[in-house]
Amino acid sequence: MTFRDIKKVGIIGAGTMGRGIAQVFALFNYPVVLIDRESVLGVAIPKIKERTAPELWDKVRSLITTDTDMKRVRDCGLIIEAVYEELDVKKEVFASLSSICAPTAIIATNTSAIPIGELARFVKDPSRFAGMHFMNPPKVMKLVEVVRGPETSDETIEVIEGLARAIEKVPAIVGDTPGFVSNRLLFALLGEAFRVLESGVATKASIDTVMKYGMNHPMGPIELADFMGLDICLHIMEFLHKSLGDDKYRPTEELKTLVKEGKLGRKTGEGFYRYAAR
Ligand code: 3HC
Repeated sequence: MTFRDIKKVGIIGAGTMGRGIAQVFALFNYPVVLIDRESVLGVAIPKIKERTAPELWDKVRSLITTDTDMKRVRDCGLIIEAVYEELDVKKEVFASLSSICAPTAIIATNTSAIPIGELARFVKDPSRFAGMHFMNPPKVMKLVEVVRGPETSDETIEVIEGLARAIEKVPAIVGDTPGFVSNRLLFALLGEAFRVLESGVATKASIDTVMKYGMNHPMGPIELADFMGLDICLHIMEFLHKSLGDDKYRPTEELKTLVKEGKLGRKTGEGFYRYAAR
């Protein structure tokens, strides 16, 4: 089997990442089945439209089928799970997929941090299971982190790698560790930025200026945290702190307080920074 055998892609979860991944595959002419609750799908399609060039919209829309019934991914060669980062939620999805999908189907997860080996316990065939980790926003970010679990086959890795290239992404194959390579490194930076801020050594604007203009990062770390969502950042940091036992991932009090107050970053209009209503 090669990546060319994958003719249709199923995506479970139509939040920021799921809908962005659906958009990318449709832009590259793959029929996509996007599964979620009606209320989430109702938001996802206009959001995809907002970020699609008008001349490509008819094509993209015609290639994306939305449904609330997971059985609709039955004929998909690749199914990407992009639901909430809770083990129980993911477990339920994988259990359903095991009875729905063809034995030849490859199941991938877009988890940000949960080791593939841990999730592989819930799929029927762990050799056909791997991480396919897109970055936010999926349409723009070139990286796809391809995560090899303890039982992932070479063929599965090659198919996912080939598919990533077919949608003009740059794959990086990595081993299985909490947060993989991307979020282990990113949250080492973000955690340190939060601590520098907490210590009063520099303002958030100065911290962001240092990284933007000193290291050519498109966004400074504080701005990036707001962009990703502070609830998501907190969740990942707590997970990394617990699973790696390393204090550099310990969330700061300010981050915890902002999340408690519902100040989740750009999506709520306020996080570390305030944003004008769109
Ligand atoms: N959603 C979708 N697309 C977006 C977007 C968003 N929120 N914001 C911008 N874009 C798209 C625009 O539509 C545009 O697309 P086009 O080129 O096809 O027209 C393109 O991005 C550029 O948009 P702008 O010119 O308005 O914006 P900027 O030039 O300021 O770039 C950015 C915006 C691409 C978000 C840039 O600031 C950036 O690269 N930031 C860093 C993002 C990053 O590091 N992401 C990784 C986060 S870590 C992660 O995802 C891992 C996960 O597990 C947590």
